[in-house]
Amino acid sequence: ASTKTIEHALLHWYDVHARDLPWRNPPRRAVPNDPAWPYRVWLSEVMLQQTTVAAVKPYFAKFIETWPTVEALAAADEADVMSAWAGLGYYSRARNLVKCAREVATSGGFPKTEAELRELPGLGPYTAAAIAAIAFDERAVVVDANVERVVSRLFNIEEPLPGARKAIRARAEEITPAKRAGDFAQAMMDLGSSLCTTRDPKCLLCPLAGMCEAKAGGDPARLPVKAPK
Ligand code: ADE
Ligand code: SF4
Repeated sequence: ASTKTIEHALLHWYDVHARDLPWRNPPRRAVPNDPAWPYRVWLSEVMLQQTTVAAVKPYFAKFIETWPTVEALAAADEADVMSAWAGLGYYSRARNLVKCAREVATSGGFPKTEAELRELPGLGPYTAAAIAAIAFDERAVVVDANVERVVSRLFNIEEPLPGARKAIRARAEEITPAKRAGDFAQAMMDLGSSLCTTRDPKCLLCPLAGMCEAKAGGDPARLPVKAPK
């Protein structure tokens, strides 16, 4: 299938079926240039690094209520932030959160490019790409485990992980659109978590079924192949 077909089918599906998550609301198009948007996206992406969506939701709500802007968080006592984080785990994330908030507040806002975001405390390549795409609509390529699964199936990539990561990234790069890269990334995440699941992909409901090479082959659940340990 052409890249355009995948893009259109996926974005249309996302417009109808996107999960209603607190950090997606109100949508960016409703509040263009709202300075709170990059802050919310950054906070959610850091929380989601090693924690599930369900576990993150109440913490995200509590943080936004207590510290509604990056300036507010920058002015917080680190001890208060640490105790609000209690239960989420991986506490270096909370320390980096405060450090990052202070750097961003001092420099007058979040940088907009993936390369500059990558320099901030606590932001790895995945998180920097996710923020660039979701908060700033930069055409950044966002590849998490959900995206790896969807892409390996769409293009029937049989090479085992982790070796397949290079081919998966190259394909993800090809299909990432110039516009709405953030919606596209989140659509891939939603598809991977709701339909293109590890054990039991629901291909009959999938907007990409007609373009999916693994579906055509008859056994998408075997992908991605994992190298034996
Ligand atoms: N996991 C990491 N980032 C996410 C996002 N923006 N939406 C849903 N799940 C995610
Ligand atoms: Fe995944 Fe099936 Fe959709 Fe292919 S058709 S992307 S395997 S859910």
